[in-house]
Amino acid sequence: MAVRGERILAAALAAAGRRRFRNRIAGQAARYWSAPTGSAWEANSHWRNGIGDQAWLEVGDDHWKIYETFARALNSPSPNTVMEWGAGGGANAVAFAPHAQRFIAADISQENLDECVRQVRATCTTPVETRRIDLACPEQATVGLAGSCDVFLCLYVIELTTGANAVRAILKIARTVLAPGGTALVQIKYHTSDRRTRGFAGTAYDRNLASTTTFTIEEFWNLAAECGLTPRLITLVPENRLDSRYAYYALTIPAAVQPAPPDERLLDVKYTEFAATFNADVADAERRAARGNYISRREGETTVDD
Ligand SMILES: C[S@@+](CC[C@H](N)C(=O)[O-])C[C@H]1O[C@@H](n2cnc3c(N)ncnc32)[C@H](O)[C@@H]1O
Repeated sequence: MAVRGERILAAALAAAGRRRFRNRIAGQAARYWSAPTGSAWEANSHWRNGIGDQAWLEVGDDHWKIYETFARALNSPSPNTVMEWGAGGGANAVAFAPHAQRFIAADISQENLDECVRQVRATCTTPVETRRIDLACPEQATVGLAGSCDVFLCLYVIELTTGANAVRAILKIARTVLAPGGTALVQIKYHTSDRRTRGFAGTAYDRNLASTTTFTIEEFWNLAAECGLTPRLITLVPENRLDSRYAYYALTIPAAVQPAPPDERLLDVKYTEFAATFNADVADAERRAARGNYISRREGETTVDD
């Protein structure tokens, strides 16, 4: 009933001034994520002490298993560089960094980045770098990273964004930073034909933040393709310890075109033909030279005799 009331009130506000409402929510979201405000913020950012040891470890383990399944199916080599967009308290970072040579954590708040680095350093020796995201220009956080990542993670983030444009920006960032053959593992919260499962912005952003933006399974598939990523695989988690209706997509970009290996049989045939032609030409040239020598010698002899 509370959610229904919130939805009706938010719809009325949005109808009264759609653009103003959207801008207000976007401003609130940027402020909300930029700095800690207490224990609810730490839980929403998935800090270890915010959601508890077990749930925190489960987030990273579950996501690594999903990634491994996708990687096996796609025949992906083990990743060199992994980037996580919206890394929060490092639950995924600690599960992925041990399998990589370099981990790049991007987030809106410095406190999240610091916590993520602390957790990775307590787990493994993989070098970890940070990038601060400014929601007014998220692309700035990727300067110098074009084509350098093998895996791009965006987990428990899309649902918190303030609409399809913000999601487009994230998918285009994934497209930019991924190396040829790289994979983005992106999670969304999906809605069904039941209207109550649709995401919406609350009257204030933090009143419904975890269900602000949802998509149908097909809508997100098409949106990813529109942003230059190739949707390859999908898995659904209708319910987990934290929430419900999650879909995970493996989105790839084409591997660099490699020159095809030579066809050995064709090469043999061509070299045999070439050798035959070459030998015939050499023999011909030698025959012509011998005949020329003979004739000039004969002519020489005639001149002497005369
Ligand atoms: C629920 S936490 C998820 C943390 C981590 N990805 C995980 O799975 O445990 C959400 C994180 O996304 C970040 N975030 C929120 N909106 C974002 C956006 N539009 N782009 C990137 N990060 C965002 C927040 O700062 C927060 O750290």
